[in-house]
Amino acid sequence: MQKAISRIALAAMLCLVASVSRGQDAANGEKIFKAKCAVCHGPDGAGKPATKSPSIKGKTADEIQRVIATSPKHASVKSLTADQVKELAAYLATLK
Ligand code: HEC
Repeated sequence: MQKAISRIALAAMLCLVASVSRGQDAANGEKIFKAKCAVCHGPDGAGKPATKSPSIKGKTADEIQRVIATSPKHASVKSLTADQVKELAAYLATLK
């Protein structure tokens, strides 16, 4: 019995840690977005006609990775690490 309870407690704790770190990813992603993407994609990622940039709400890490690797518009953000791209995607997923 004692064992079963501690196993449940452990599982609950792991879930908590996982969801906290997801929130942390999005928070870091928001900082990167504001610093490096908002100038062109707008403060809420909705895109900006003046810079001819589309909405990037909900873009995945794969899409971001492909764009920063291939689009000349993204020379200034080429050096983002895979972790930073993942954090950005976590933040973009929170935009509606
Ligand atoms: C200098 C302005 C500029 C900056 C800075 C910029 N973008 Fe862009 N972005 C554009 C433009 C213009 C396009 C559309 C043309 C293209 O893809 O080159 C675009 C397209 C994209 C697309 C593809 C959207 C689609 O629907 O195809 C994604 C994803 C994207 N940007 C993500 C980002 C992220 C993430 C950042 C910050 C790390 C960023 N961009 C910074 C100008 C910019």
